[in-house]
Amino acid sequence: MKKRTQAKWNEDLIMNQSYTGRRFHIPEKFDIPTSSLPDEWQRKTKAELPEVSELQVVRHVVRLSQMNHGVDVGEYPLGSCTMKYNPKVNERIAKFSGFSNMHPNAPESAMQGTIEVIYRLQEAIKLITGLPGVTVQPAAGAQGEYVGLLIARNYFAKKGEMNRMKIMVPDSAHGTNPASAAMAGFKVVEIPSNHDGFVDMDALKAALDDSIAVFMITNPNTLGLFEPNILEISKLVHEAGALMYLDGANYNGIVGMLKPGDMGFDIMHLNMHKTFSGPHGGGGPGCGPVAVAQKLEPFLPYPLATYTEDSDYYHFDFERPDSIGRVHTYFGNFGIILRTLAFLYRNGGPGIRDMCKSAVLNANYLMYKFQSIKGFSVPFAKGVPRKHEFVASPLNLMRETGVNAGDIAKAILDYGIHSPTVYFPLIVKEALMIEPTEAETKFSLDRISEAFQEISDLAYSDPEIVKHAPYLTGRSRLDEFNLAKNPILSERQKQNQ
Ligand SMILES: Cc1ncc(COP(=O)(O)O)c(C=O)c1O
Repeated sequence: MKKRTQAKWNEDLIMNQSYTGRRFHIPEKFDIPTSSLPDEWQRKTKAELPEVSELQVVRHVVRLSQMNHGVDVGEYPLGSCTMKYNPKVNERIAKFSGFSNMHPNAPESAMQGTIEVIYRLQEAIKLITGLPGVTVQPAAGAQGEYVGLLIARNYFAKKGEMNRMKIMVPDSAHGTNPASAAMAGFKVVEIPSNHDGFVDMDALKAALDDSIAVFMITNPNTLGLFEPNILEISKLVHEAGALMYLDGANYNGIVGMLKPGDMGFDIMHLNMHKTFSGPHGGGGPGCGPVAVAQKLEPFLPYPLATYTEDSDYYHFDFERPDSIGRVHTYFGNFGIILRTLAFLYRNGGPGIRDMCKSAVLNANYLMYKFQSIKGFSVPFAKGVPRKHEFVASPLNLMRETGVNAGDIAKAILDYGIHSPTVYFPLIVKEALMIEPTEAETKFSLDRISEAFQEISDLAYSDPEIVKHAPYLTGRSRLDEFNLAKNPILSERQKQNQ
């Protein structure tokens, strides 16, 4: 099968390309009046910036980008992280000068369009989730979790139920769930999965008491399985006086098909960069809206965008005495809010439903293919269709050839395909978590499965070759242990070694 060779530029640091006095174009005279900063704010030493031409910068950045992989370059089946294609029209809309030049300190009357976009997204998310309160302020899914749990905390504090200081989290959960719970001041109670990968109901019942504030679950879970007992779980959790939290990172598997509010969820976060095609930043800027049930609405962060029909006026509501406060500067990452709304309006309800169906069909097609790759299996819930993703395990292949999931994840890079998420969820040995998304064609899905098939064949015939892959990427294997233990984070540090 055809492999893809990545560019290998021996690219030097931009600082090393610097030449004293070299400049971009600078206008000879600025007509902007200068004003000087107070003395204590002024630099005492010269800023160490590269002195380079515009062309040098462009070439440098393009060369670096060519040594990287992105969804615009090749397939990107990264489970749970949902690296879907971001239609370019979103970018055009985000550049509209009426939005991009808007100063966030402008008076409300001058930013009616901006507030309207935020308001409309809040309303769209209410409709999609079936939950009547929404903030679009958090900058990522993980921050959404933290915000959702702070809301729960303040809700119970207001009710005088300070005994509720524990969050129940299934053992298949993403690491951010227990981390957010701990940051919000809760203790974490881990609930084991049963042999099918679903919540162990006996363990859940045993752990439920009046110290529990929230049951936090990802549904579909990180195995791509939809929790069949979700209505019963909601009932039990509510009977115990606790709240239901949905981690919506896997929302691509159900969006448009059913509403989390109807499943009994009181709080959920969504990841716009996973479900509605916002770009994934390196940890941001993203958007992780939080949607809540009526009783939790007063605790949402301020400001919320509101609309008064009589005066046809959009407004930021800061008068929210029970609010947990602001969680982002200004109103959140507006560029992502705008891209999300553009994506939603372009697809409409039927389009979003089709998107979800295609994502699920693609994942199941690929899972079916993976089941016949020698040395691979798909653990848990045999015969149960997955939603948007599945987790394959090359455990037998590792036992028979010595090639492990990490080696396979490296070898796949030589095909110009990004690695799946590896070694997660923790309940699967040698996990390769695969999510093709709705954007891939059957041709690409076949390409992905054929590439894994070839790697398996090679592992059985010549495992050493796989153990040293990749060969065609800009960089091959890095010394991950030393990089983590003794990171060199600056050129100066490198020179001082
Ligand atoms: C299941 C799950 N929950 C939460 C998160 C955190 O989301 P974010 O990356 O938007 O902070 C992720 C991220 O991959 C995830 O997969």
